[in-house]
Amino acid sequence: MSAAVGASQLRIRRMGEVDLDEVYEVERSAYDYPWSRGIFEDCLRVPYECEVLEENGRIVGYTVMSLAAGEAHLLNLCLAPDVHGRGLGRLLLDHVVGVAESRGANVIFLEVRPSNQRAVQLYLRAGFRRLGVRPDYYRASVGREDALVLARRF
Ligand SMILES: CC(C)(COP(=O)(O)OP(=O)(O)OC[C@H]1O[C@@H](n2cnc3c(N)ncnc32)[C@H](O)[C@@H]1OP(=O)(O)O)[C@@H](O)C(=O)NCCC(=O)NCCS
Repeated sequence: MSAAVGASQLRIRRMGEVDLDEVYEVERSAYDYPWSRGIFEDCLRVPYECEVLEENGRIVGYTVMSLAAGEAHLLNLCLAPDVHGRGLGRLLLDHVVGVAESRGANVIFLEVRPSNQRAVQLYLRAGFRRLGVRPDYYRASVGREDALVLARRF
């Protein structure tokens, strides 16, 4: 997918090994508890559906999704902090949901921290619904934080 938005050129394409330095940089800048570089290497090896969003040739976001037996699981959706709030999260989410649907998924699941209101609002507006809670799922500064499990059915 390619699109020109104002003066900026956006492109979504498959992630490769050569992208991992840039992807890992975005991951570390966006999360308090980032994935390790090794996790991304494993995701490419499986292989999961891994895509990057480029703006004018710079990687500003990415998604990692597993797809099997009619079920998709969005494992990571991340944008660089300096591009937040411009609609790029929604663009990438709509794209990855479209990929899941076109590949035969009946449902797409994800986990999100309840404290991550930006992400929760993004998913709810995109048609995801609350399915349940996984207690103590995430690391936190004090103790652990639950995960909300959200799902969108096709
Ligand atoms: C969560 C994230 C993907 C959202 O991407 P984004 O590009 O900033 O979001 P968008 O500009 O597309 O906004 C999408 C929706 O998010 C919500 N949103 C955006 N900014 C928000 C804010 N400051 N506070 C609360 N909600 C907000 C709104 O509902 C918005 O929809 P609207 O514009 O129709 O009102 C992005 O902030 C991010 O990568 N964060 C760090 C990594 C992360 O937390 N990933 C999700 C893990 S589950």
